[in-house]
Amino acid sequence: MNIQKRNKIVLLLALIFIVGISNNIDAQQKMIGPYVQNMSDDEVTICWSTFEGATSISESDSIIQKVSQYKQHKSIVTRLDGKTTYSYDVLNDGTERGKGTFTTFPENVENFHFAVLGDTRTRHDFHQRIVDRIINEKPAFVVNTGDLVSRGNSMEDWEHFFRINDKLIRNTPYYTVLGNHEQDSENYYNFFSMPGNESYYFFSVGDALFVIMDMEGPNYNVPAYLKGKKRDEFWENIGKEYIEKEKKWLENVLNLNDDAGYIFVFFHPTYYSIKKSRVEDAELRRKYWGDIFERHNVTAVLNGHDHYYHHAEHGGTHYIVTAGGGAPLYSTDAPQPETVKYKKIEHYMRIDVEKNQTIMKAIDINGELIEEIKVNRRK
Ligand SMILES: [Fe+2]
Repeated sequence: MNIQKRNKIVLLLALIFIVGISNNIDAQQKMIGPYVQNMSDDEVTICWSTFEGATSISESDSIIQKVSQYKQHKSIVTRLDGKTTYSYDVLNDGTERGKGTFTTFPENVENFHFAVLGDTRTRHDFHQRIVDRIINEKPAFVVNTGDLVSRGNSMEDWEHFFRINDKLIRNTPYYTVLGNHEQDSENYYNFFSMPGNESYYFFSVGDALFVIMDMEGPNYNVPAYLKGKKRDEFWENIGKEYIEKEKKWLENVLNLNDDAGYIFVFFHPTYYSIKKSRVEDAELRRKYWGDIFERHNVTAVLNGHDHYYHHAEHGGTHYIVTAGGGAPLYSTDAPQPETVKYKKIEHYMRIDVEKNQTIMKAIDINGELIEEIKVNRRK
């Protein structure tokens, strides 16, 4: 990979990657990426995947499934300058397919803006329109609140996802949250390169803290012979240990980052739901996590899962559901006492982090403003 600092060419790392069977045009066309991951003020990870072949499964004489296989590559580039734009080139057999640019995060407290979208798993045309709007915003980075694809175990779904996002993530760091549709799949961990254990993690920009949580837990196959109550117990006990460990981790992260100017927390399922059939689930979630976000003066909690826009407020923390990235919209049939605003429409968020305040804008697929929320810097 060849990295150049704009206007001043500095060769930081040269990595020549030669595709296994380099003259195979089909293999080159099916390359995924490159894309930008795990940004900081002095480091970045560039990822890309190369097509390795496919498996075809037949029943009688007809092919019932064709599964592509990719080999994932990543290049960690260090010793970069903060707030600097670099161009890079994955030297993939001399083709133009491997080029992109990125801007490192600032070292100091400075204004920046980022984008949030969620539930991009279906209706690819809507997903594409939202992505195109986000590209025009030129955010410092993007967070997807989960359910990126319909079936995390389906390579075909990931191929769609990367095709739609190619122009965006080639030049913009993309952070992900595990949704139930990711199925805790190997594919997710192979494609993305996130900080920490990659399921729940945090990163910072200036003095703003971003905490990504995993509310899904490990995905185990429940033995078929377990039925009824035993089946529920199996789930509860398998998941419990994982979530309790994460709860301790979260408390610790929030305690240690008490000086943060802003704190944004992301997880997939909702803390406040306005879809009747999910209200109880959200209540159970609040019962388990309690006042942890408000006690730590978290600026905003951003969720996905319920396919609409919803803003609730409680104890000084804003709870936002942003899940309008393409998945079919849900009915908004149970507004809550904490509800401030809601709209059943495809949308994304643009969040401007400034020295004295943060401005969170929900923008619909047509570019119309749904709501603007202003929040002061944490004391
Ligand atoms: Fe979901």
